[in-house]
Amino acid sequence: MTNHYQGLINKYKEYLPVTDKTPIITLNEGNTPLIKADNLAKKIGLSSINAEIYLKFEGANPTGSFKDRGMTMAVSKAAEAGANAIICASTGNTSAAAAAYGAKAGMRTFVLIPDGYIALGKLSQAMMYGAEVIAIKGNFDEALEVVRSISEKYPVTLVNSVNPYRIEGQKTGAFEICDQLESLGGVPDYHFIPVGNAGNITAYWKGYKEYHALGKISKLPKMMGFEATGSAAIVRGMRILNPETIATAIRIGNPASWKQAEAARDESKGTIDCVTDEEIIAAYKLIAATEGILAEPASAASVAGLIKANQLNMVEAGTKIVCILTGNGLKDPDSAIKYSGVEVKKTSSDINDILKVMNI
Ligand code: F0G
Repeated sequence: MTNHYQGLINKYKEYLPVTDKTPIITLNEGNTPLIKADNLAKKIGLSSINAEIYLKFEGANPTGSFKDRGMTMAVSKAAEAGANAIICASTGNTSAAAAAYGAKAGMRTFVLIPDGYIALGKLSQAMMYGAEVIAIKGNFDEALEVVRSISEKYPVTLVNSVNPYRIEGQKTGAFEICDQLESLGGVPDYHFIPVGNAGNITAYWKGYKEYHALGKISKLPKMMGFEATGSAAIVRGMRILNPETIATAIRIGNPASWKQAEAARDESKGTIDCVTDEEIIAAYKLIAATEGILAEPASAASVAGLIKANQLNMVEAGTKIVCILTGNGLKDPDSAIKYSGVEVKKTSSDINDILKVMNI
């Protein structure tokens, strides 16, 4: 026996559709930090009403996003079923995760991405993990339609979140939050989360409901999902043919888990709303500057949503709030450099020149 953490399937086996015969394809994903964000709470006016913010930093997963949770399950089940190849459409993170777990499982991995609209870090991951990367002239929604029909006709397993095992893996995020908050009452009052294809909000809600049904938590959080304004299909109640946002990870106009996301909202008495690119960028910078956590722009939609909800007086005093930071900011250095507003100061190597520039 070893106490060494061995990934979320091992940790949460009893709640997952695995058996002793399932080959576990893992990179020891999960177990990500839940970080108390007092500086941020103060800055956005939540400490004054005694509300606490916790940031679930999913960027600490092996490929740098929450997708690893779903991918360990989807690829393990694909391996169990004897698959030799997997396929997905992706705005970047799913492709990186599929490529990594595909490599670990020794499978061929095909990823379809919208040409020109994925962060470079994500593309470089898929390339290095050895995926076959196909960039299409089209957006994520179109790529998803294509991979769905390919997987129906050819022996390649679809690993987008329409694969139910992805949702099973991702629901462990909710278990972890409850376990991490155990000594503090076990469950947040609000769960803020970015919404793109809507798999993650679906998965978290499933996880919370299962823990609740097992008596492990005494109440359920309100699910607070946020789309980007230019891609807000659920908010507007219509498919968006040309979704736009600087948060390319959630540049999606026809979310596959649309209905499930609405169910999570309605059952939890939460909300699905949207935030503008300006609000996303402001939150992106604020998280980094106040808490020392660099999440990618799409991830910041959760905190931007919290700021908006608070401005609308939707956050009750004395509550516990979890914001999911879905992906690592290092995946998108272009955005970091562009929006940081910081100028790199250049000088000679002479100490006097350096001191002058330091201005202290
Ligand atoms: N945040 C990040 C960083 C993402 O990469 C995604 C989705 C989301 C949030 C939204 O999650 O789709 O479950 O609602 N990225 C997918 C991809 C679409 O292809 O990597 P969702």
